[in-house]
Amino acid sequence: MKTTIVQTPVYKDQTVTIGAWLSNKRSSGKIAFLQLRDGTGFIQGVVVKNDVSEETFQLAKNMTQESSMYITGKIVEDTRSPFGFEMQVSDIELIHQASDYPITPKEHGTEFLMDHRHLWLRSKKQHAVMKIRNEIIRSTYQFFNDNGYVKIDPPILTGSSAEGTTELFHTKYFDEEAYLSQSGQLYMEAAAMAFGKVFSFGPTFRAEKSKTRRHLIEFWMIEPEIAFVNHEESLEIQEQYVSFVVQSVLDNCKLELDVLERDTTKLEKIKAPFPRISYDEAVDLLKEKGFDDIEWGEDFGAPHETAIAESFDKPVFITNYPAEIKAFYMKPVPGRPEVVLCADMIAPEGYGEIIGGSQRIDDLELMEERYEQHGLTGPAYKWYLELRKFGSVPHSGFGLGLERTVAWLSGVDHVRETIPFPRLLNRLYP
Ligand code: 4AD
Ligand code: MG
Repeated sequence: MKTTIVQTPVYKDQTVTIGAWLSNKRSSGKIAFLQLRDGTGFIQGVVVKNDVSEETFQLAKNMTQESSMYITGKIVEDTRSPFGFEMQVSDIELIHQASDYPITPKEHGTEFLMDHRHLWLRSKKQHAVMKIRNEIIRSTYQFFNDNGYVKIDPPILTGSSAEGTTELFHTKYFDEEAYLSQSGQLYMEAAAMAFGKVFSFGPTFRAEKSKTRRHLIEFWMIEPEIAFVNHEESLEIQEQYVSFVVQSVLDNCKLELDVLERDTTKLEKIKAPFPRISYDEAVDLLKEKGFDDIEWGEDFGAPHETAIAESFDKPVFITNYPAEIKAFYMKPVPGRPEVVLCADMIAPEGYGEIIGGSQRIDDLELMEERYEQHGLTGPAYKWYLELRKFGSVPHSGFGLGLERTVAWLSGVDHVRETIPFPRLLNRLYP
């Protein structure tokens, strides 16, 4: 019976065959322990000299790291292994003998590992992080599908900018100038007017010269947009969504969290509602915490976000930032136009901003005013104004950065390990 490692518990006490790679090996005179992986999981294969042919035992003893094989044996329960099962090997058919695999069980530097990302992905820790990423994506689709959202795909090549013009990737679109999308939001607003509740999931690009552990040049964003929903209602959706994703990862990624030695007691506390503090209160809090030089009107940096997050054991919403430091489309707070109806959700434990969201301006005249102030001219922006001409309604939306969320839930400290092939300031390889 041919099966996969993840399926082996179903075949307890039966003999099965698995297509696998050798990730590590230990052997002594009469026994070899093969650490096997097949993509679905990891299992130990035990080869006992007296139980197999001499040829099979020699094959096991001499097998090199990352060699591939079909391996056959009986699946038995083993309480010492985190997986709970191991294979008593009876036969091995070598497929390909690998030589000089560069990533050995010893320690390697990060740059070396990043240069070998195409191979590094096979390691247990990277495998666990990618499985958690996959679970976040899966539960995201589940949450929005279960709540009546339609998945809409905004374009990647665009003629307009959503989040300011300084971080745009320029490209030629035949004879026109085009950009790679920084955010699908403007298109998602059009979609919300057509479908009510929508979400997108796709790559976004920021030509940011930032070299921090939270910044990627290419990252993936989940962007819901909802008609007839105000700022406060949007915050409720955000905390429900994030709580659901965290719970799904806790429920479905136990082995992975274990491999990563993630402190899950911290994640178990992540249940809606989340605390909210205004930007004004956040400035006061920072001053209390010794950030003497922070002035009202300035944007927060990573140290500020971390200091604020330290006061809470759940994600915290920082609401109502100054209009000056936020995007052009955010709706002013009624009676206080210097601040806007927006919030950043800051993850606990120093993982920083994972969501940026806001209620959007729905008034045509005010939007035209903002266009003027931000120098958004030209035909590329015309369609967005038209959304305010034909049945404009209050609406809100937000964007969750996938990689920062993966970093937080996995407990890895740099986003470069949260995406299969990271694009960084000085990295386009592999
Ligand atoms: O706060 P941002 O820039 O918001 C928007 O793009 C809105 N248009 C979203 C919306 O309302 N539909 O980005 C949203 C999130 C951030 O909170 C962060 O998690 C992530 O995207 N993000 C990045 N992640 C990795 N690398 C970068 N360079 C990122 N820039 C933003
Ligand atoms: Mg933001």
